[in-house]
Amino acid sequence: MLPLLDRRLVIVTGKGGTGKTTVAAALAIVAAAAGRRVLVAEVGLDEHLPAIVAPGARPVGYDGRDLAKGLRAMRIDPYEALAEYLGLQIGLRGVVRRVFENRAFRQLMDASPGWRELITLGKVWHLEQMQDEQGRNRFDLIIVDAPATGHGLTFLDVPRVVGSAVRAGPLRRHAGWVEQMIRDPDRTLLLPVALAEELPARETAELVQRLREDVGVPVDRVVVNAVAPAPFPPGAGDLDERLARLPAHLRIPGAPPVAVLAACAAHWRGRHELNARWTQVIAESTELPIVTLPRLAHGARGRDALSVLGHALVREGAVAP
Ligand SMILES: Nc1ncnc2c1ncn2[C@@H]1O[C@H](COP(=O)(O)OP(=O)(O)OP(=O)(O)O)[C@@H](O)[C@H]1O
Ligand SMILES: [Mg+2]
Repeated sequence: MLPLLDRRLVIVTGKGGTGKTTVAAALAIVAAAAGRRVLVAEVGLDEHLPAIVAPGARPVGYDGRDLAKGLRAMRIDPYEALAEYLGLQIGLRGVVRRVFENRAFRQLMDASPGWRELITLGKVWHLEQMQDEQGRNRFDLIIVDAPATGHGLTFLDVPRVVGSAVRAGPLRRHAGWVEQMIRDPDRTLLLPVALAEELPARETAELVQRLREDVGVPVDRVVVNAVAPAPFPPGAGDLDERLARLPAHLRIPGAPPVAVLAACAAHWRGRHELNARWTQVIAESTELPIVTLPRLAHGARGRDALSVLGHALVREGAVAP
């Protein structure tokens, strides 16, 4: 397994709300702090990442902006990417923009399948190829915050479908380049993010199976996010039970009644054990190493919180079969 920081392209994927954008931001922050030139690209119409890194930050848009030294963020809007692509190919950027503003054209495009995925990945390919004046890669690491799975798998499968449907010409060639990029284990890694609960665990197993069987994009670990940490110190694993056995009339100065303390303690122990159980299920069903990230009690926003998650993500030995 290549360390995450030594990858060229990491595509973060998973179901809605599992923490994809948080993981993408956390990885970007530790990678930039380790001296990598990082680009993190959020795919879609909404932008959440800049405000996760720096609460209140302005959107970065398609042109992107540096959020910190060595850390550039952008949002890949497929229409912008298409306008750029057509503008480069035909050299008529102004005309392309006018066509795009036409309502009928947008309705037609909104109803057409596949082009968004292909053009988005085409843009990623283009970014991966970019070089600076010294002929080095412009970015050492590109992190893509992909759309939620389901949709996310179509996203990765489109280049193959286009490649097999179109016989010749530039479209076929471009789809071929994109397909080569996303299937290349030396360049690309798909990073699934899951939660350690029943439904997300099952969906992650299906995702990994489909990736292996149909899409052929390299995957070598699963991130299990927001795992409730062990609630009690070592040697006090049954603290909730001990609290429950205390006499009900006992009062601890400044603390709620012992029955309330016992219920809170039981809740957190239950949460921790549930997460541990489903993490185990994810490991067994995917047969992949697992990286667990803790649920942060005060939320996962801002550089400090993201650094905690980022270090857990890239820590040596964090990954065990
Ligand atoms: N480890 C964590 N500890 C605490 N809160 C977290 C953690 N990871 C994510 N969150 C919170 O969970 C919520 C969802 O996270 P995030 O937006 O990253 O998910 P997502 O998968 O990108 O969602 P979407 O599918 O809508 O794009 C956010 O409020 C985020 O701050
Ligand atoms: Mg997101």
